[in-house]
Amino acid sequence: MEQSAVRSPATGTRSSASADATQEIGRRIGEVAEPGTVLALVGPLGAGKTQLAKGVARGLGIASVVNSPTFILMNEHVGRLRMYHIDAYRLEDPEDAIAAGLIDERQVDGVTVIEWADRLAGWLPDERLEITIDADPEDADRRILRWRASGDRHTRLADGVLGRS
Ligand SMILES: Nc1ncnc2c1ncn2[C@@H]1O[C@H](COP(=O)(O)OP(=O)(O)OP(=O)(O)O)[C@@H](O)[C@H]1O
Ligand SMILES: [Mg+2]
Repeated sequence: MEQSAVRSPATGTRSSASADATQEIGRRIGEVAEPGTVLALVGPLGAGKTQLAKGVARGLGIASVVNSPTFILMNEHVGRLRMYHIDAYRLEDPEDAIAAGLIDERQVDGVTVIEWADRLAGWLPDERLEITIDADPEDADRRILRWRASGDRHTRLADGVLGRS
């Protein structure tokens, strides 16, 4: 029988003890991210998605302030690579936003960071690094980061920065 070329995604779990530690994880991602990286961030309000995005920006050498682009859907920042920062929280019609080019091939030159990525579920590129951030019920400042990478580029990135376990 022919072997399938489709490999199962790589996964791992990390914990972060503070907002700074989450930013530091983001910074290391930004430092080594290659063009075409898609970072899909999932997690409830206040999970730390923007903290991670701020770190990515720092790692990319971006000087401008990175906040959740809640009202304009996408912010573009210029650094070593461009960072496209999307927040899908208030998207009323994801299909419409996708049709309007919210995620498109122009972003292959940079790093796309998507908060509330689960709201764009069916429209996300197959190749991506997805990080789900959850609170730790026993420690207000701790977060559990579960990652799942598909495609060589994103698997390399996750293995290098987050590690499997
Ligand atoms: N380990 C941690 N990692 C990240 N943030 C933490 C951590 N511990 C505490 N925090 C705090 O949690 C908050 C996270 O806010 P942030 O804006 O990053 O969340 P978010 O997931 O982007 O929320 P939203 O969905 O509202 O955009 C910050 O106030 C941060 O200081
Ligand atoms: Mg946010």
